[in-house]
Amino acid sequence: MTEVKRITVLGAGLMGHGITQVAAQVGRYEVCMRDIEQRFVDNGMVMIRESLQRFVKKNQLTQAQMSETLARIHSTVDLKEAVSNADLVIEAAPENAELKRIIFGEVDTSAPANAIIASNTSSVSITELASATRRPEKVCGMHFFNPPQLMKLVEVVRGAKTSDETTQAILKVARKMEKETVLVKKDSPGFIVNRILTPALNEAAELCWEGVADRDDIDKAIKLGLNWPMGPLMLLDYIGSDTVLAITEVLMHELDPKFHPSTGLKQMVKAQMLGRKTGKGFYDWTRDQNR
Ligand code: CAA
Repeated sequence: MTEVKRITVLGAGLMGHGITQVAAQVGRYEVCMRDIEQRFVDNGMVMIRESLQRFVKKNQLTQAQMSETLARIHSTVDLKEAVSNADLVIEAAPENAELKRIIFGEVDTSAPANAIIASNTSSVSITELASATRRPEKVCGMHFFNPPQLMKLVEVVRGAKTSDETTQAILKVARKMEKETVLVKKDSPGFIVNRILTPALNEAAELCWEGVADRDDIDKAIKLGLNWPMGPLMLLDYIGSDTVLAITEVLMHELDPKFHPSTGLKQMVKAQMLGRKTGKGFYDWTRDQNR
């Protein structure tokens, strides 16, 4: 089995920076975080520092452990350099199937032959991504939840050709990061969590759009009525309405027309009201220090 020592995370955004941090902080892996522009890499490093600082403030991490974690993280904008030494590459790029296919092809060319290529995708088919490489048996889904620093779950998703060895290696890495795992045995759209969550978020956006209830009442109803830690509209902002729309469209095309995106959700994306990532969504995040 591939012994994973060095991990490369592709993407320094909301998910990429969090996965990088967990891999270095909890898994104690050497991690390389790569994004396409220096400003994205820098922003990812700022978010990692802020998050580590929160753990230090709560006495869950010492200042020395924070420094050690940061020392295990390297960053670059050069894809070739990022993956040339990796045992495991975790792709955390935006939810765009074509973009991810291109990345998988490029990684396949530059990464060592025995490296595993995993995707943090929420909805793109693992089998499809694997087909962009010459090592489909070494491609697997490794789906974290936002924020990866706090959420306990990782969905491990098998593509049609993923080997047992690759699946076991990913399960082992996830456990080393102290995550709970579930195995998605078939590469089915939305896997487990998003197949259930995304229709609910889509419906919350539609209720708001239709004016059936105000934003705060929709969120209050679900928080108090279902004991969710945050309401669906706040969660939508948290994940990003563009990501939720992308997942919804995959469910509609691949599974059933009944999953069609609501007008409310599409309007939010058209207006670039994507939530935390653009500063405005159902809520105003411009004053939030932690976006
Ligand atoms: N790093 C470190 N600590 C963090 C943090 C971060 N990035 N974000 C929050 N925290 C800490 C805060 O410091 C705070 O600590 P204390 O309580 O000790 O002060 C604690 O977490 C709680 O944070 P907040 O008070 O700011 O906010 P909260 O109580 O609402 O908790 C939350 C935040 C943990 C995110 C919680 O609201 C929650 O669980 N929300 C639901 C998240 C969720 O459902 N995620 C899954 C989304 S679906 C997905 O990701 C899959 C997909 O493919 C789309």
